[in-house]
Amino acid sequence: TGDPATGPGDDTDPERHTDAEGTLGLHFPENFGWGAATSAYQIEGAAKEDGRGESIWDTFSRTPGRTRGGDNGDVAADHYHRYLADLDLMRDLGLRSYRFSISWPRIQADGRGAPNQRGLDFYRRLVDGLHDRGIAPMATLYHWDLPQALQDAGGWENRDTAHRFAEYADAVFNALGTAVPTWLTVNEPKTVVQNGYLIGHHAPGHQDPDAAYLVAHHLMLAHGLAVQALRATGDDTRIGPALNLHPCYPVDDSPAATAAARLYDGYENRLYLDPVFTGSYPADVLADLGPGSRMVQGIRDGDLKIISAPVDLLAVQYYTPIYVTGTGGTERRWPTSEASWQQIYPDGMYDILTRVTRDYGPVPITVTENGLPTPDTLSDAGTVDDTGRIAFLRDHLAAAHRAVASGVPLESYHVWSLMDNFEWEVGYDQRWGLIYVDYPTQRRVLKSSAHWYRRVIAANGL
Ligand code: NOJ
Repeated sequence: TGDPATGPGDDTDPERHTDAEGTLGLHFPENFGWGAATSAYQIEGAAKEDGRGESIWDTFSRTPGRTRGGDNGDVAADHYHRYLADLDLMRDLGLRSYRFSISWPRIQADGRGAPNQRGLDFYRRLVDGLHDRGIAPMATLYHWDLPQALQDAGGWENRDTAHRFAEYADAVFNALGTAVPTWLTVNEPKTVVQNGYLIGHHAPGHQDPDAAYLVAHHLMLAHGLAVQALRATGDDTRIGPALNLHPCYPVDDSPAATAAARLYDGYENRLYLDPVFTGSYPADVLADLGPGSRMVQGIRDGDLKIISAPVDLLAVQYYTPIYVTGTGGTERRWPTSEASWQQIYPDGMYDILTRVTRDYGPVPITVTENGLPTPDTLSDAGTVDDTGRIAFLRDHLAAAHRAVASGVPLESYHVWSLMDNFEWEVGYDQRWGLIYVDYPTQRRVLKSSAHWYRRVIAANGL
């Protein structure tokens, strides 16, 4: 299925299903966790309230030229004030699971010391509101909003940040305890590495390859230390990493492309999966980085034991495949979405889910993100007709269903995103939500995809 030449190409045509919402007869397992996802900085706003400190995204988005139109998360979707109405919308959709993130600078303004009760209280109210509506909370501890004070002390290049993270995690575990049945440690460590430290178009905006992979190690160490902290509470809750995985296909079957795709896969996937599930970093990647690299130099005895502490689940985020040429470049094979980096290829979902189960299982899997931006507009009639999103979700869910049929222990799936939000360096230009946010009024409007998703959930399938 990994070969684009033989793959069912029609599946990727965004128009294909626009008038074909009829059932496919695909039923998901009983109690499947139909969900949607968000993150704190992208939706909350209320940037200066209740003792919240500054994060690296406050700094970054205020720096001229860093975000499109100078957009920032000061107000975002104003979810901090509107969370009750948003909870009601989640209930109306029939969601069974809601993945959100906890803002570290709301809990520790400077990234260390006694937790801020007002910050904790917000998440307690949110979590209670989810339970009241029969929705299971799934909380991410780190979705990129590092307290600026810790960045000033070296950020993720500083090993101490991993220990600060474990302390913060411990404070959150103690405050929310078993009210959150599922915890995710670090969201997409790879994106922090690549966008924050290689390309530099995410906070903190560095372009320093040697630093980047040391950051990767410290993020993985932070993951492991948080797992340790959770186990120390004795709580019967679950924890795992949230990894964005990219199937990497060679553009042809030449030995050069095959070898290049394998190393590419090392940097995209195995660098983050192997330490957690096998207790070692991939040898090919370490060799490529070289023994003198800051990462290799920064790995201490015992680190991999911490990082490989058993996890309860693996959270997979799938958006796009990568096609690798014989010289290690990339090529485009499929139509892209409004996000230039995203090629629409539903079979990639099947490939990545079956691959992680084959190579790292058995471990329960949740898809914690999948979605696309579409050019949504609010019609005079007050509707938002995002048929492209329906086609995308339907095709990716069908691929996920095939993976389940092949034995992948997939327990839940979360659309990115519940609502339109601050899409990092492109600001509010891209709309990823099931729910349209009219930013001037903060009015929420369910898009066609939200109505469709409600029917999918009610039917427990397609
Ligand atoms: C991954 C990130 O976790 C999320 O914050 C982002 O908005 C989506 N991908 C879409 O790019």
